[in-house]
Amino acid sequence: MPPSALPGAVTPLIPADALAERVTAMGREIAAAMPGDVTMVVLLKGGFVFAADLLRALGVAGVDARVEFIRLSSYGSGKESSGTVVLIGPMPEGLEGRRVLIVDDIADSGRTLSYVRQLMLDAGAAEVRIAALLDKPSRRVIPVPVDFIGFSVEDRFVVGYGIDYAEGYRYLPFIGVVE
Ligand code: IMP
Ligand code: MG
Repeated sequence: MPPSALPGAVTPLIPADALAERVTAMGREIAAAMPGDVTMVVLLKGGFVFAADLLRALGVAGVDARVEFIRLSSYGSGKESSGTVVLIGPMPEGLEGRRVLIVDDIADSGRTLSYVRQLMLDAGAAEVRIAALLDKPSRRVIPVPVDFIGFSVEDRFVVGYGIDYAEGYRYLPFIGVVE
């Protein structure tokens, strides 16, 4: 990208080639653990770039995954979560008996993932697994089983590869830290 497009306040943390390599490997790990039918349930908005690459990594690994999306309450425009998770928008249909892979950008407090996990179980999913590109284990408040993790990171506020700060920076092809 041209140097002018690099925001000065973002320090690179995980380069694009490392993301690509790890997501490809996650596709193989998930394919081995979930052979056969898989329905990805992607958490919007932050999970969409990761999910697009993971879908193709799963395909390369031999899994023809279905894709559904759900949108939840987010951080708003600040850096701190409100602590309340709310479903905004429609709930995917036809999850009864399906093997669901929840796909999110970051496992932080765990509130979002544990809420969605219960939502999937209530919808009658036969199996629920969770894939998160990033994990911040030191931030966990609600325990939740994250089955597939891309990278564990420190308690820093990150952006890029679909992850935003005040709706910006999602376009970055790498993960960076906002100072
Ligand atoms: P949780 O419910 O506290 O686990 O929040 C998870 C969500 O918070 C993630 O899916 C992100 O949308 C958001 N989030 C957590 N940490 C960051 C960050 O460092 N940058 C941007 N968004 C974040
Ligand atoms: Mg999110």
